[in-house]
Amino acid sequence: MQGAQQLMKVFVTRRIPQEGVKILKQAGMCNLSVWDSDEPVPRAELLNGVSGAHGLVCLLSDRIDAEVLDAAGPNLKVISTMSVGFDHLSIDEIKKRGIRVGYTPDVLTDATAELTVALLLATARRLPEGVNEVKSGGWSTWKPLWLCGYGLSGSTVGVIGLGRIGLAIAKRLMPFGVKKLLYTGRGAKPEAKEVEGEFVPLDALVAQSDFVVVSCSLTPDTQGLCDKAFFSKMKKTAVFINTSRGAVVNQEDLYDALSSGTIAAAGLDVTTPEPLPTDHPLLTLNNCVILPHVGSATYATRGIMAELTANNLLAGLTGAAMPTELKI
Ligand code: NDP
Ligand code: DGY
Repeated sequence: MQGAQQLMKVFVTRRIPQEGVKILKQAGMCNLSVWDSDEPVPRAELLNGVSGAHGLVCLLSDRIDAEVLDAAGPNLKVISTMSVGFDHLSIDEIKKRGIRVGYTPDVLTDATAELTVALLLATARRLPEGVNEVKSGGWSTWKPLWLCGYGLSGSTVGVIGLGRIGLAIAKRLMPFGVKKLLYTGRGAKPEAKEVEGEFVPLDALVAQSDFVVVSCSLTPDTQGLCDKAFFSKMKKTAVFINTSRGAVVNQEDLYDALSSGTIAAAGLDVTTPEPLPTDHPLLTLNNCVILPHVGSATYATRGIMAELTANNLLAGLTGAAMPTELKI
């Protein structure tokens, strides 16, 4: 055990799974300071807590920008985010200061793909509406035209962003009898062969798909990608699913598309802002299913994410190779 003065200060912005905390404690090299709450750290506490830190463990809900980096000061060597998405990090500012970044790819791919399939089926087959009808007494009898939705069998699915999660979603959807799998992104991908995926331009994907699934990262190019023009090209019977980031969608345009019948339904695991205010217009629509950003939320996945986050952090502190370092 090193003396207290030799320990490296690590600020953790939230209560994280014990698996991660245990690794940080057992390493014996960290003076841990944890915002020990399930709620986000207030900005002032973040700026104060990070001061003088060598390492920072953060979540996707923490905006890590120049102000935070300046508050941390020159000791900061490593930022380890417990997420695969890194749109909350000001990468240019981080790079400028020579700080390394760890993130959590792969370990949450299965859980997120599984949740995306669940959301797609719940939205297309109107499960929340059905559950509500049962509870409210709206279920009077079996009716031939009641609560009908759309099935995957024989359908065309379009995946925007056939990355780790996009491919895992496609692999899970194909066995439902999907006829054609289209995808778009920055270029064609060899691994698309695994799902017989056809690379097409965005417009073609949007126009031809019965299910449009968004699984790309949030970048300046994808911000607001799904807007009025996008929804107007979709089939009237098509279902839109987003499990990437809320800002990929223009929510006012989505509301208009859903309420006017331009598209059939939408399922969202991510919104802007998060949480979505309970009086948000999207929440008044029966054909919009909204989940509270739970893509990776299985006990096992969150535990492994915390472990990986801790191991990335420790490697960053000691100058070793990180298990999963973001190339910046
Ligand atoms: P990857 O980096 O493997 O995949 C990202 C994909 O986005 C790539 O296929 C990339 O395409 C694509 N992309 C980038 N720019 C564009 C663009 N302009 N148009 C279309 N596609 C684009 O990441 P993951 O699959 O691991 O994760 C994807 C995202 O999912 C994360 O960034 C995160 O935001 C979100 N996520 C959400 C979760 C949830 O709880 N809902 C859980 C986990 C992740 P290309 O390959 O051509 O570069
Ligand atoms: C991520 O990791 O980016 C997700 O949004 C949460 O797991």
